[in-house]
Amino acid sequence: MKGNIVSLDIGSSKICCMIGRRGPDNEMDVIGVGEVDCKGLKGGVVVNIEETVNSITKAVETAETMTGDVVRSVYVNIKGEHVESFNRSGAINISRSNKEILPEDVDLVLESAKAIQIAPDREIIHTIPQLYIVDKQRGVPDPIGMEGSHLGVEVHVVTVSTASLNNIIKCINRAGFEIEKVVFGLLAASLLIVTQAEKELGVAFVDIGGQTVDLAIFLEGNIRFTKELLIGGDYIIRDIAYGLRTSLSEAKKLKEKYGIAMTSLVDVDEEIEFLSIDGRIKRKISLLHLSEIIQPRVEEILVMIEEEIKKSGYSHLIPSGIIFTGGSAFLKGIDLAAEQIFDMPVRIGIPQDVGGIVDIVSNPRYATGVGLLKYAQNKENSRFINPRFRQSFSFFKKIKRWMEEML
Ligand SMILES: Nc1ncnc2c1ncn2[C@@H]1O[C@H](COP(=O)(O)OP(=O)(O)OP(=O)(O)O)[C@@H](O)[C@H]1O
Ligand SMILES: [Mg+2]
Repeated sequence: MKGNIVSLDIGSSKICCMIGRRGPDNEMDVIGVGEVDCKGLKGGVVVNIEETVNSITKAVETAETMTGDVVRSVYVNIKGEHVESFNRSGAINISRSNKEILPEDVDLVLESAKAIQIAPDREIIHTIPQLYIVDKQRGVPDPIGMEGSHLGVEVHVVTVSTASLNNIIKCINRAGFEIEKVVFGLLAASLLIVTQAEKELGVAFVDIGGQTVDLAIFLEGNIRFTKELLIGGDYIIRDIAYGLRTSLSEAKKLKEKYGIAMTSLVDVDEEIEFLSIDGRIKRKISLLHLSEIIQPRVEEILVMIEEEIKKSGYSHLIPSGIIFTGGSAFLKGIDLAAEQIFDMPVRIGIPQDVGGIVDIVSNPRYATGVGLLKYAQNKENSRFINPRFRQSFSFFKKIKRWMEEML
């Protein structure tokens, strides 16, 4: 029995450790969660190593207590404005007399697509195949076993700043853990939220977190575009705190308990109480007034996302619409506000198809943590296919390749 899988979502507002157990039929049960508020990051990037290390330690300890595991290594996410991605292609000639394409040829063509000049302070973390081209035939999902003299590939490459990557690695190592893989969080979250049908037809997937918005566009089954924006739900908290002259913690409570994205959605205009900045005087605010503070920022965030989708050139190619996830997707009415702005279908994405403590993790704020467990499971499944079978049966090679393509 393989050990449990551990994920660490290092976010701008929280650090969340999850422990996942593989079931006998390859299902995934989330059996432990540890979550700690963290002020060690800004905009998804580590700015205070000590604070981040302490929060990682606490989050992991809490999850360990739930399951009795001793965590040694983790799958961790990376995010922030420094994450960049682009599409590239690679090609090789098959010069053997037998022109059957082998797994080694696929490795070579992927390497050729990676052979690109990137700035010395950046690193590639993912090279995701989009489609293969065998001779002149485009759109081949799996070329292994086909005959051809020329093999091409189109890939989506995700790069990150080396310094930001090293700071995450440093924090996790200092907390006493090894890293299995650093993963672009949105890619992991998409595994349990965006359906294959939506990816085929074309869809935008957006994680609105505390201080960042991550956007990905999927088309013909694959990720084609990503963009990170420095804005998020914490800006709404600040607006409420300034507007009502109250503390950030009181503003957070007001937003999460009573906040409504659009004034037109406030049906009963009740009054609610909150504490003044010194915590001594109780004041009142109406739900309508609270929503008046929230709405402009929600609109700003949604319009920024809309502009990025337009700039990407894919806006007319996403008939499946937009899926929102991340903690801020929980704001009441944000989907309706988005429908008005985007004029396309909008849904809130919650991690699906996991077992265990489902009541806790079926929540958009855990999209990345649970997605990382799924990513890890896919990756480890491909690794655990017996190498002897890999030599003997092209069927297994195909499964392995197919699984790796998703990573
Ligand atoms: N019930 C709720 N209603 C409205 N907003 C909520 C609710 N629950 C959480 N949020 C907001 O979600 C945001 C945090 O989201 P999330 O936990 O996804 O962030 P994060 O992963 O730590 O940050 P990031 O991904 O930006 O680095 C906060 O602004 C929080 O106020
Ligand atoms: Mg997040």
